[in-house]
Amino acid sequence: SKPTMTVIGSINTDMVTITDHLPNQGETLVGKEFHIKPGGKGANQAIAAARLGANVNMIGKVGRDQHGADMLDVLQKENIATSMVKKDDQAPTGVANILLSDQDNRIIIVPGANNEVTPDYLKSFEKVILKSDLVLIQFEIPAETILYCLDLCYEHNVPIVVNPAPSKELPDDYWLKATYITPNETEAEQLFNISTEDSRLKDKLIVTKGKEGVSYHGNNESLLVPAYSVTPVDTTGAGDTFNGALSVALSEQRPLSDAIHFANAAAALSIQKLGAQGGMPTRAEVNAFLER
Ligand code: RIB
Ligand code: NA
Repeated sequence: SKPTMTVIGSINTDMVTITDHLPNQGETLVGKEFHIKPGGKGANQAIAAARLGANVNMIGKVGRDQHGADMLDVLQKENIATSMVKKDDQAPTGVANILLSDQDNRIIIVPGANNEVTPDYLKSFEKVILKSDLVLIQFEIPAETILYCLDLCYEHNVPIVVNPAPSKELPDDYWLKATYITPNETEAEQLFNISTEDSRLKDKLIVTKGKEGVSYHGNNESLLVPAYSVTPVDTTGAGDTFNGALSVALSEQRPLSDAIHFANAAAALSIQKLGAQGGMPTRAEVNAFLER
């Protein structure tokens, strides 16, 4: 039977501008394309998980505005349970301004309603959280909410995957309450001292390294799952696809190395289309890719 996951996190409207190169200070450039796309790390991860076959509850907030209505619509079309995505009376729906060039992407986020995903707000959904096979959370919501959620899941033995993106420091003992922690390379460098950190923490870290692959710790050694070489169209959301897919596989009780391989394949497929959610694969698509 399908596992049930709860994803707690951000919902944004992505304003994507495609440009040959990035403007210098004081410079105005003519860009190539502009797209409005659904995004936000929470929503992206929820959608990745739903397409791969999990029952997904989303906990988050949007504004009482057109973007919010549109984002709710997007989530519902993916069969995600949205009764725990409320419209905030004051704050607008979160926005991510994304500059996409051949070399890289740069993002400015204005959190809006995502900042209203408070511990009190979570409290009202505690029952749903505790009934989940797995909880998945990222760092585009207030830090207190993340701490609250870690305490809750740890106390009740609910597996929780923590994607510390964008990176924010937490008190040391809190990291140990996570089942797995999934930073990218930059976040890992900012948050963890890989050489000296204790083995309890090492065993929880799954570090995504873009083109290189994914490193993790097993049998007392550091292991690398190489990335698939594919030609990227838009890498925005690759990490989100990875996290959604990893969490689905883990909530199906698959071994960690299997789960990472599966998530790696899903991420490779996701970067071949525009938009964070555009290329997120279905289960059948991942299986076909793995059987090539
Ligand atoms: O991880 C990609 C996401 O980060 C984008 O969809 C954007 O909304 C930002 O939050
Ligand atoms: Na994509």
